[in-house]
Amino acid sequence: MSCVLGIDIGGTSIKAGLFTPEGKLVEVKKIPTGAIDDEKAFAEVCEGLSSLVVGAGFLPDDVSAVGLDIPGPVDDGGRVGMLPNIRLDPDGLKTAIKHEFGKAALAFVNDANAAALGELWQGSARDLSSFVMVTLGTGVGGGVVTGGKLVCGAFGAGGEIGHITVNAGETRVCGCGRRGCLEQYASATGIVWLYQQACKADGGEHPKPEHATDTITVFDACRDGDACAERAIDQMCDTLGLALAQISCVIDPAAYLIGGGVAGGFDLFAERLAASFRSHCLSTSASARILPCSLGNEAGMYGVAYAALQEAAKGE
Ligand code: BGC
Ligand code: NA
Ligand code: ZN
Repeated sequence: MSCVLGIDIGGTSIKAGLFTPEGKLVEVKKIPTGAIDDEKAFAEVCEGLSSLVVGAGFLPDDVSAVGLDIPGPVDDGGRVGMLPNIRLDPDGLKTAIKHEFGKAALAFVNDANAAALGELWQGSARDLSSFVMVTLGTGVGGGVVTGGKLVCGAFGAGGEIGHITVNAGETRVCGCGRRGCLEQYASATGIVWLYQQACKADGGEHPKPEHATDTITVFDACRDGDACAERAIDQMCDTLGLALAQISCVIDPAAYLIGGGVAGGFDLFAERLAASFRSHCLSTSASARILPCSLGNEAGMYGVAYAALQEAAKGE
């Protein structure tokens, strides 16, 4: 019997899913990580993956395909570009995984592209031939699907929507080395920053904005009627809606699917986001839908398992 690993690489942990060859998720394991850039870290990751495989009753040789999703652009040949938010040596990790699961086909995919594939395969995009996956988390990612196919671009940066410039006057530097990227406003850290700015602008009257270190706190504050939190979420929606409207001018997708950890607040920002999008887009595209994705934080794991299965099929 064979199995497939779908591995989602994040800033603080790896989420690995063990799938059947038919795409049924059997078991998930979270492996805490720091920087993944030396032999010790590679060994820890491989150990975690092996224990997942063995714990589910398989042998390492039963793993027929391994997919890894990466929080940075990846081109068609699996080469990784810049990594704005993580310390990761992709080649070192690839070598270690090849060593651990020698018989497996290997696929490397950008994390948001993987999430798009996951939603296309088993999620809410099953019936959509054109949509853009938007992942809002530590970074902001995008996965563009047109004609049922993922658009990776010539260099792998197709769908890098987190680095669309939404404020050319920004002074803070983004993880990509540039300034004024969408990610600086619509990622988890971006939203917290917007909230802290709003509190400061409030004249220091506001109770301890430094306590807000995550988006859950900001969303809860907004639900409690905190005007500063509301202002932060408005600004996040303004910039994201502006970026989506620009994407519509190029791709004109039928829908935008919102995923990533920040999508937990979708009910809170959905209407504001739609209003911002409609105020910026061409009237022709105004009926594009903005929907929550259905696989949540597991979309990337599913999608990268799918990519790995396809890679394995090539070799058969
Ligand atoms: C990276 C993307 C990635 C996104 C989400 C961005 O900073 O450039 O490649 O998809 O973060 O992790
Ligand atoms: Na992408
Ligand atoms: Zn950037």
